[in-house]
Amino acid sequence: MERNLSLSMINVSLTHCLLLCLVVAVAAAASNNITTDQQALLAQKDHITYDPTNLFARNWTSNNSVCTWIGITCDVNSHRVTALDISQFNLQGTIPPQLGNLSSLTTLNLSHNKLSGNVPSSIYTMHSLKFLDFTDNQLSGSVSSFVFNMSSISDIRLTNNRLSGEIQHEIANLRNLEDLVVGMNNLVGVLPAPIFNMSTLKLFVLINNSFSGSLPSRIDLSLPTVEFFDLALNRFSGTIPTSITNASKLTVLKLEGNTFSGFIPID
Ligand SMILES: *[C@@H]1O[C@H](CO)[C@@H](O)[C@H](O)[C@H]1NC(C)=O
Ligand SMILES: *[C@@H]1O[C@H](CO)[C@@H](O)[C@H](O)[C@H]1NC(C)=O
Ligand SMILES: *[C@@H]1O[C@H](CO)[C@@H](O)[C@H](O)[C@H]1NC(C)=O
Ligand SMILES: *[C@@H]1O[C@H](CO)[C@@H](O)[C@H](O)[C@H]1NC(C)=O
Ligand SMILES: *[C@@H]1O[C@H](CO)[C@@H](O)[C@H](O)[C@H]1NC(C)=O
Ligand SMILES: *[C@@H]1O[C@H](CO)[C@@H](O)[C@H](O)[C@H]1NC(C)=O
Ligand SMILES: *[C@@H]1O[C@H](CO)[C@@H](O)[C@H](O)[C@H]1NC(C)=O
Ligand SMILES: *[C@@H]1O[C@H](CO)[C@@H](O)[C@H](O)[C@H]1NC(C)=O
Ligand SMILES: *[C@@H]1O[C@H](CO)[C@@H](O)[C@H](O)[C@H]1NC(C)=O
Repeated sequence: MERNLSLSMINVSLTHCLLLCLVVAVAAAASNNITTDQQALLAQKDHITYDPTNLFARNWTSNNSVCTWIGITCDVNSHRVTALDISQFNLQGTIPPQLGNLSSLTTLNLSHNKLSGNVPSSIYTMHSLKFLDFTDNQLSGSVSSFVFNMSSISDIRLTNNRLSGEIQHEIANLRNLEDLVVGMNNLVGVLPAPIFNMSTLKLFVLINNSFSGSLPSRIDLSLPTVEFFDLALNRFSGTIPTSITNASKLTVLKLEGNTFSGFIPID
């Protein structure tokens, strides 16, 4: 009797395992791993057309673990690529959609190169990304196509590219956004209202674009955490809200090169 019971228990757990293992296997097949990361990085290598320091040819070779490649950081526990920093290599080329497969990435730093072409939308589905830095490249395309799904993002730096289009109201979905630095592009349009209700924003730099519209009258309440607010060289208009003096965290304010009326009370 006891023997029967334990036999049938083994049976149950075997059936269980068959189901469970199947589920686990299916999940594993569908999820990305270090092999996916390597394929994504090799796709990036393939999309580099000029590499003055020979970084990719001499170092990014598939007979060595991606975790030893220059510019790559891996997490020892998950064994996934968590940072890609190939800034300041004077690279020319484009960003392939496969780069969006680096699904454990927290830092993506491609700044100070000469990368061109559109930023593939797959980049904006990286859920773990915290730092995105494309400063000083020649990237184009519309930021309107940004799907702001990067729920972890804290730092977006796009200064000095050729990006166009409008910032969409979905920006408010980015609940951890601290730095939005998008100066020196071809961005246009009125800022979406929800941008003036982000309680995490510290650095807000829009200098030298073609943004228009006016500022909310209670900007002190709208931007309670902003320390650096640079709207210079745009097409903003209307009166400068006097409540700006009540924005307690503000240390730098740049408004020149717009068509604001009014003055900033100094007290
Ligand atoms: C990564 O996942 C694929 C299936 O998608 C699998 O064939 C491969 O063995 C996995 N690689 C590693 C290193 O786990
Ligand atoms: C790539 O560069 C890293 C860092 O300099 C180095 O540790 C590694 O050995 C290099 N790999 C190859 C294959 O050159
Ligand atoms: C690694 O690969 C590169 C190019 O694919 C090759 O030149 C080099 O000899 C290989 N190194 C080893 C240790 O196999
Ligand atoms: C990206 O790299 C540059 C220099 O290579 C550095 O100054 C910058 O802080 C980095 N960006 C981020 C978001 O860490
Ligand atoms: C990698 O990305 C490409 C393009 O975004 C996609 O078609 C492909 O299925 C992805 N591969 C894996 C293994 O996730
Ligand atoms: C955005 O994220 C949500 C939740 O993770 C997901 O369901 C949705 O498909 C994502 N959208 C895009 C365009 O990636
Ligand atoms: C501001 O955001 C909060 C949530 O963070 C929301 O409850 C509130 O309705 C928003 N206010 C406006 C004016 O959008
Ligand atoms: C503003 O950007 C344009 C290119 O879009 C550039 O030619 C100009 O020098 C920039 N002005 C300043 C003051 O940076
Ligand atoms: C600044 O805040 C104080 C206290 O809430 C308020 O009395 C005052 O009217 C505000 N000043 C402006 C210019 O909004």
